Amino acid sequence: MTQLDLVSPTLFGLEGVCAQELKRMDAKNVRAENGRVLWDYTPESLVRANLCLRTGERVLLRLGRFSAPDFDALYDGTHALSWEEFIPREGAFPIRCRSVDSKLTSQQRCTAVVKAAVGDRLGRAYGLEQLPETGAEYAIRLFIMNDVAELYLDATGPSLHKRGYRAMSVIAPLRETLAAGMVLLSRYHGKGPLRDPFCGSGTIPIEAAMIARNRAPGLDRSFSAQRWAWLPSRLWLEEADRAMDLEYDGDYDIEGSDVDPQAVELARANAVKAGVEELCRFRVADATRFAPPEPAGRVVTNPPYGERILEKREAEGLYAAFGRAWKAVPEGWGLSLLSSHTEFERTFGRKADKKRKLYNGPLKCDLFLYNI
Ligand SMILES: C[S@@+](CC[C@H](N)C(=O)[O-])C[C@H]1O[C@@H](n2cnc3c(N)ncnc32)[C@H](O)[C@@H]1O
Repeated sequence: MTQLDLVSPTLFGLEGVCAQELKRMDAKNVRAENGRVLWDYTPESLVRANLCLRTGERVLLRLGRFSAPDFDALYDGTHALSWEEFIPREGAFPIRCRSVDSKLTSQQRCTAVVKAAVGDRLGRAYGLEQLPETGAEYAIRLFIMNDVAELYLDATGPSLHKRGYRAMSVIAPLRETLAAGMVLLSRYHGKGPLRDPFCGSGTIPIEAAMIARNRAPGLDRSFSAQRWAWLPSRLWLEEADRAMDLEYDGDYDIEGSDVDPQAVELARANAVKAGVEELCRFRVADATRFAPPEPAGRVVTNPPYGERILEKREAEGLYAAFGRAWKAVPEGWGLSLLSSHTEFERTFGRKADKKRKLYNGPLKCDLFLYNI
């Protein structure tokens, strides 16, 4: 069998951190590209990445890559892949397509062509005119970029950012993968205090607690590939055991605060669901009076951006007030703050030592880094 690749799409800006995570998981031949990370497929690595990856959006098994300037080429390239090695007789194979900068733009037609090509190939292999599709799901994803098609099996199902601890949310919650990425980019691994003075539903402190404890974020959820017939089911247990063996025991000083008491309640409830309520605490507090007592630590935070014009001024006022509070913070403290506001540094009153471009969904943001 030729060497297949695993692929994890990431939010733009998190490719490097995701690649680091994979290397730490012993993934081989890790390659970061724009918006995704690739590495060599092994069954163990597919399972491990699903259970342990914090910043990747999903795990895809890439089955083929070929030029597809027209529908005939898309059909032929798809039909040439040995789908019967991966999708059993009863397997269901829903299809999702995305096309970027390519001649084939109709998602509907691309979906129909891939469905027909896979169906024809499997029908011939199993001697069936109609495939039942009554069994486990082997979801297929097609991605076409610059007329090159890539076909994947989706090993994850609901995206990896759906850890399962955030059933209810505030108005502008941060994606779990982005919160984890911010914590990792701030180089927090459990040492010293961590604060989020605009914590909302608590995503940053909760992800920080899981990072401090080295708890795999996927232990409490399920994945599509758990039902794949050809993937040894014992691997899920073995990899979960391995992940739990790697957890650290310790006391951590992680605190989230917010001016909104309801957000604080929600953050507490989410921490309980995530099983980290003993590792982080939450309280009602105004960030404009932020005053950490410790000599050194990290603030990782996501204040309101003021996306709507009426709120823009309010956000500027808040940044200015937080900036005044920051002047009194002991020198050893570092700050990683995410905002899409182009005037953040000016209103905060200090230029960042470093900036990282990150996308909060479609929103282009900067992670402003001070003393990290
Ligand atoms: C963008 S949200 C944070 C979302 C959070 N990262 C999450 O994942 O849910 C910004 C938060 O800042 C809070 N906030 C606004 N002004 C504040 C202030 N002066 N002090 C503390 N929190 C404030 C809001 O209540 C809101 O929950």
